[in-house]
Amino acid sequence: MIVITSETKLLDLELDCLVSYIFEDDINTSIEFLNLDDELQQYIKGLVDDSEINGRFGQLNLVHTHNKAKQKRILFAGMGKKEDFSLTRTRKLSAEVSRFVKNKKFSVCGGLPTSVELPNSLSISDFCEALVEGAYLGLYSFESHMSKKADSTESKPSQFLLGEFNKQERDNIDKAIKKATIVSESAKLARDLVNEPANLMTPSILAEKAKAAAKDAHIDYKSLTRNQIEKLGMGAFLGVSKGSDEDPKFIILRYIGDPENPDKELGLIGKGITFDSGGISIKPAANMSAMKGDMGGAAAVIASISGAARLELPINITALVPATENMPGGSATKPGDLLTAMNGTTIEVENTDAEGRLILADALAYANTKGLSPLLDVATLTGAIGIALGSVSMGLFSNDDTLAQELTESSQSTGEKMWRMPLWDEYKEQNKSTVADIKNTGGRQAGSITAAQFLHEFAGNTPWAHLDIASVFMSSKVDGIYQKGATGQPVRTLIALFAKLAAK
Ligand code: BES
Ligand code: MN
Ligand code: ZN
Repeated sequence: MIVITSETKLLDLELDCLVSYIFEDDINTSIEFLNLDDELQQYIKGLVDDSEINGRFGQLNLVHTHNKAKQKRILFAGMGKKEDFSLTRTRKLSAEVSRFVKNKKFSVCGGLPTSVELPNSLSISDFCEALVEGAYLGLYSFESHMSKKADSTESKPSQFLLGEFNKQERDNIDKAIKKATIVSESAKLARDLVNEPANLMTPSILAEKAKAAAKDAHIDYKSLTRNQIEKLGMGAFLGVSKGSDEDPKFIILRYIGDPENPDKELGLIGKGITFDSGGISIKPAANMSAMKGDMGGAAAVIASISGAARLELPINITALVPATENMPGGSATKPGDLLTAMNGTTIEVENTDAEGRLILADALAYANTKGLSPLLDVATLTGAIGIALGSVSMGLFSNDDTLAQELTESSQSTGEKMWRMPLWDEYKEQNKSTVADIKNTGGRQAGSITAAQFLHEFAGNTPWAHLDIASVFMSSKVDGIYQKGATGQPVRTLIALFAKLAAK
């Protein structure tokens, strides 16, 4: 589907379907805007009087125009009450609308964002940006391995027109559409990487995908081999990869968008476990297949740095992805084994299924040797975060209030919810080992916090934040902008954060 702005009145164009957005408390404005043939107007008024068309949030009413208008159909899309309206609601509604017209196989459609009076806080270009994001994300499907491509081959709708706008408005809206397209494509890239089965998304393949994304975005790419990883002394990372026949990779992407400030460079770190069997502390069979997505953090990191570069944001970012499988092979690390991280810290491996914190430990230590700051890691780290927050929100942990605040605000603007969790010193007790500096599990209580405290040890005093996305990286159902499967969280929030930091 391509989205195009129109200077021509959409009401003068022949369309399969015209979408009219309506507020519950202000339906008449939108209906009058349509300037319909009298008979049709009365008919629609009647539906409004009968409350059949009522503008409640998410309600869709399709009306056939029977040759009384140039458009074959008008779809009324309920935006709810003005006071409850938000960009998050816009995206959700637009996703529902786009799936509706797709299922009906309408080809050329149009929408009338100018037919509503938006609440003061929303600009028309923000509204259009959210409409486009919602449509692209809502239409996402992962069908590359299906012999019969039910959805994508027909690619309906083929065109979606937004109008009408005068020349100057149009320039603005076109910019907003371009931004929304890049942001959605970034989220879709992350979804694709996560949805791909693990035999087709090994560490080497993930590195190739990162290389391709870097090429598209014109940024630097490098990937360290096992030999180089050994030379760096990343014993914790290598300890995880020992049970697998697949070579580990340490992927490095670099985007310099602010060359005037070479000393300011953000370190972005993504957990890249391409399959997490649990290792010797093997997981139960039920749902183990979901662990093909244990590189969701890596996917978000790769997709968001490429988005930042494509948007040409004035910011410097290095992205680091330790990528490996966690498998129970003959030379796998065993419970009780001792590993030494790159910074010299010794780690007792109490449970080989707590592997994410091990590979991130070396990545954080590496980031610190490079002077990157602030540090931000993204990881499908613990099942416990889902126990704490459900599938509604990811967990945010940080040693820096400003960074936590910036992340929270970015997340509020994208609707990808996060909730800050505590990092009190008391929780460090649970990670104490009797044979090493630290152990890799802290017991059942506060599992996501003790995991974060483990990472904290390796971030040190550098301003750092950790996003535990295990609760939100997959969706169990079609829901607004999400399809069943990978959600692409928190790519849009990361890009919003980069834009915020770039504007500072
Ligand atoms: N990758 C998992 C966490 C996870 C669970 C992600 C469910 C997505 C959905 C992680 O490596 C893991 O296994 N964590 C353990 C830690 C425990 C052994 C301390 C967990 O959460 O059970
Ligand atoms: Mn695990
Ligand atoms: Zn894992």
